[in-house]
Formats: sequence, C-alpha cells, structure tokens
Amino acid sequence: MAKDHDKTNVTSLPLAERKPMALDEAALEAARHSLDQGAATPSSGPWRSELIKLLNDSLATELVCVLRYKRHHFTAQGLASPKIAEEFLVHATEEAAHADRLARRIVQLGGEPDFSPDTLSQRSHASYDESSELKSMIRANLIAERVAIEAYTQIIALVGDKDSTTRRLLEDILADEQGHAEELKDWLAK
Ligand SMILES: [Fe+2]
Ligand SMILES: [Fe+2]
Repeated sequence: MAKDHDKTNVTSLPLAERKPMALDEAALEAARHSLDQGAATPSSGPWRSELIKLLNDSLATELVCVLRYKRHHFTAQGLASPKIAEEFLVHATEEAAHADRLARRIVQLGGEPDFSPDTLSQRSHASYDESSELKSMIRANLIAERVAIEAYTQIIALVGDKDSTTRRLLEDILADEQGHAEELKDWLAK
C-alpha cells in the first residue's frame, strides 16, 4: 500500500500541489492606477470601506476613552491618591495618541476620520463614565480597557492579511491597552 504523503513537509508535495512563490503581476499593474485611493492597493482595496469603518469605530472608542480619563483625572484630584489621578492623565494622553494614529491610517486609506461629537458614544465600543469615587473610576476604566482589548483582538483577526500595515498598528495599540488593563487591575487590588 502506498504511503500517505506527509502534507506538513512541503518539499514532499508533488509540484502541481505547491503554490508558486510568485507575485500577482495583475495586482502590481492595478497598483499603477486608481491613484485617488492613496495607500489602498489591490490587496486591501476590496476591503477598504470596511477597514475604514472598523478604524473609525476604533477612533470613536479612543476619543471616548480620552474624555473619560480626562474627566477622571480632573475629578480625582483631591481624592485619596494623587498618583492615580496622574496615571489617568497619562492614559488620556496615550489614548489621544492612539486616536491620532488611527486617524492618520484612515486618511492613508483614502477615508475620512470621523470626529463628529454627535455620534461618538454610539460608535464607541467603550463607555464614558462619571463616577465620583476613586475605586469606581478605576473599575469603569478597567471595564473600558477590557472592552477595547476584546474589540481590537476581534478586529485584528478580521483584518488578518488583508492589510498588514493596519494590522500592525492595531497590534501596537492592543499591546498598550493590555498594559493599561494590567495597571488598573493592580490599582483595583490595592
Ligand atoms: Fe487606546
Ligand atoms: Fe487604554
């Protein structure tokens, strides 16, 4: 009886079953046209409007996070821990930097970053919060960070290899959100 091919070893595959490592010349040619699409080329092009929508929802999330952390920074001053109030400001600044990077990528893809205040909270994955007590603030921020982590994880999976630049950007932001969540969890335990 013939031995099964070892499918995990590509060199043992018959030549016909191997996908050649060759570039898609038609896509390269297409990249020479549609200049109005900026950085969106044939690889990401079919997904462009969905990518822009996902990025705009993430932009809304970051902007709501900036507002929530700012509110907490200013209202936590005078409460028990000035260090935590300062940390809220550090997070607000980092979320604002995330928003800027997302907006820049949206423009690179030929889209328009949506900063409309009227729809921010509906489009955001995370919530605004007006807690007045320190532990409640930390808790609300931890919930928001966990929601952001889950949303970015899902978006990264959706983007996959459709647009590696966007995926890397989202992975960078995700790592920051994981750092934020870890810090908040430590504050909550104190
Ligand atoms: Fe963020
Ligand atoms: Fe964060």
